[in-house]
Amino acid sequence: MTLGCLAPYRRLCIGTVMLKHVLDICEKDGNIDSVFLHVQVSNEGAIKFYEKHGFTIAEEKKNYYKRIEPADAYLLQKSFKEPRAVTSTAGSELEPSVATPNSKH
Ligand SMILES: CC(C)(COP(=O)(O)OP(=O)(O)OC[C@H]1O[C@@H](n2cnc3c(N)ncnc32)[C@H](O)[C@@H]1OP(=O)(O)O)[C@@H](O)C(=O)NCCC(=O)NCCS
Repeated sequence: MTLGCLAPYRRLCIGTVMLKHVLDICEKDGNIDSVFLHVQVSNEGAIKFYEKHGFTIAEEKKNYYKRIEPADAYLLQKSFKEPRAVTSTAGSELEPSVATPNSKH
């Protein structure tokens, strides 16, 4: 997912409306466990924005971007489903049910 709002119109909740639209569709689908996106590590505003909407940093990817500096990215993730309870002979443990992102955004 890539989301953008023109600079003069930021901090007016437009990003929130766009993001909620996408998240609502994903939740209603019922088959989507998580959504992922990449953010430049220096993009503090976007990181705060996504964290406010329940995303967490899942991974840092070195040299993810080819044409911008810094080239490193955070992979942000928001899960829709609670971790599944898995019963094993060793006792119960929690296992997250997530898809693996394999494309650049
Ligand atoms: C990230 C982006 C989409 C947010 O859109 P927006 O319309 O400005 O965001 P909102 O007004 O809905 O912000 C909601 C909340 O997120 C947080 N937030 C958003 N921008 C922030 C910033 N620059 N710094 C700190 N917190 C921020 C705040 O908590 C904000 O609530 P508040 O204004 O009441 O404090 C927008 O900044 C943007 O287009 N950035 C450039 C593109 C980009 O970096 N996209 C992300 C990579 S996919």
